[in-house]
Amino acid sequence: MRKAVLPAAGFGTRFLPATKAIPKEILPLVDRPIIQYAVEEAVASGIEQIVIVIANGRSAIEDHFDSHPALERWLEDHGDIERLRSIRRLSEIGTMAFVHQKEQLGLGHAVLMAKDLIGDEPFAVLLSDDVMLNPGGTPVTRQLIEAHEAHRGSVVAVQQVPADEVSRYGIVKPRRGEGRLWELDDVIEKPAVADAPSDLAVLGRYVLSPRIFDKLEQTTRGAGGEIQLTDAIRALISEQPVFGYQFEGLRHDAGTRLGWLKATVSMTLESDLADEFRTFVRGLDLRH
Ligand code: UTP
Repeated sequence: MRKAVLPAAGFGTRFLPATKAIPKEILPLVDRPIIQYAVEEAVASGIEQIVIVIANGRSAIEDHFDSHPALERWLEDHGDIERLRSIRRLSEIGTMAFVHQKEQLGLGHAVLMAKDLIGDEPFAVLLSDDVMLNPGGTPVTRQLIEAHEAHRGSVVAVQQVPADEVSRYGIVKPRRGEGRLWELDDVIEKPAVADAPSDLAVLGRYVLSPRIFDKLEQTTRGAGGEIQLTDAIRALISEQPVFGYQFEGLRHDAGTRLGWLKATVSMTLESDLADEFRTFVRGLDLRH
């Protein structure tokens, strides 16, 4: 598995007005933009080529991963070697390509924009607003790649969600399972609680067969008027095995204000700022 697609062209309406001029993927978590965590996870999972799908006229993500000679010179002149390294590392990540999604027709459509760059090989998809952490363990994308290599099918990351949240996710209908892996019969986008076939939600990591591109080309607008990746995966299930993998790790939904706040607090408590931040939180009046 060499290639990964990171769709980052959505409007991010749940985060407006913060996301009016910048994509939500560029909002910071502790000290780096949300998307950088997904890029680092992909690289740590063995991915060599990263394709980021961006919206027209939004260059912040591309700029973030580009070199910045004037800033590098300034940091060098001021002896700030640690920050210099952190900046240089970004432009040395390996092969990174950017494709444009001209119209926001949905996640499925965004993935389709990467078709020519992916070609005829299986690939990973990472939705960076789902921040996946597995400290000291195998990165979540790597877990999916290993499941794919062992079982030769597409694999989607799944995790149990509370019953009152199933209507916010794609929910899988598992056929049979072994350990963390479930072969899927179906996946339904945002079902009503009563119609949900399980409480296993698809979260933002996938390993997909290139056949998905044919399915995406045939997919018409579904839930919310968008071309849904879930609908294409459904079509794929009728032809090829698709598995749900109950991954090991923690997921933060950084694409919503509350999720982003929770991610910020818990990730700060794991950072070099932890001691001071803990003291600050302890000093807050939380009795209301
Ligand atoms: P979301 O469902 O989070 O949609 O997309 P969104 O537009 O980004 O945010 P809201 O719902 O309006 O607040 C899931 C992923 O798919 C990408 C997003 O950037 C995000 O990574 N996406 C979505 C696209 O790249 N293009 C689209 O047309 C839609």
